Amino acid sequence: MKELIDLSNLPRHIAVIMDGNGRWAKQKGAARVFGHRNAIKAVREVTEGCAELGVKHLTLYTFSTENWGRPKLEIDALMQLLVHTIRAEIPTLMENNVRLSTIGDTKTLPGSCRNELDEAMRLTENNTGLNLILALSYSGKWDLVEATRKIAAQVKAGLLSPEQIDEDTINQALATEGIPDVDLMIRTGGDHRISNFMLWQLAYAELYIINDVFWPDFRKPHLWEAVLTYQGRERRFGKISEQLVK
Ligand code: IPE
Ligand code: IPE
Ligand code: MG
Repeated sequence: MKELIDLSNLPRHIAVIMDGNGRWAKQKGAARVFGHRNAIKAVREVTEGCAELGVKHLTLYTFSTENWGRPKLEIDALMQLLVHTIRAEIPTLMENNVRLSTIGDTKTLPGSCRNELDEAMRLTENNTGLNLILALSYSGKWDLVEATRKIAAQVKAGLLSPEQIDEDTINQALATEGIPDVDLMIRTGGDHRISNFMLWQLAYAELYIINDVFWPDFRKPHLWEAVLTYQGRERRFGKISEQLVK
């Protein structure tokens, strides 16, 4: 199936809402945390898959602002898992020439997480392949609030007038500065919603929701299928079919 993918028409930026870990575990009669632990393999598959294809940017929704509202036990387990996983995955990132970065309010993460992240970002900073972006303590509304604050400060300082504010001003103030908008958004677990993910950056993303797969079961063939479906879509950006260059 991978051979059918047109490498000249890849999504530049793929974003994933990795959902369904808890339900996956429940189905097996296990605790939710068991699902989170089994999600690592899927993260590796999607990362390697994107690197193999030559996709430039992959954003993984790893922990949302709203997820802070979960039971403390689950949050603690997730943070611990994050620390161990980042450290363990560094060789895989290096092998695949992947550069790691984050978006989100990372200062709210435990110090041990921040340290591991900083170290992994430092070690991978010269890698030139896939840019893997972990959205951590992230939400679309948080991103827009932060961007608005930055822009307001520039206006207050007299560096910018309100009339000069355009889409580029906002693009540059968002956490995704310098990264193209999302072309393809994949969500596992069957819920048809955005869950406060990248609200601005998803403006014209093609949505691909997998109804019958929970995140821990996601494998490379699911990615190939998503990219093939994306390539079969007609992206009109408000225009009509006849206007598109074929
Ligand atoms: C996604 O799986 C992982 C995180 C949000 C951290 P969930 O934990 O939301 O699993 P479900 O959706 O409850 O099954
Ligand atoms: C979205 O999943 C957040 C992440 C995958 C990190 P949720 O499970 O938190 O979303 P809702 O609550 O079902 O919308
Ligand atoms: Mg969920």
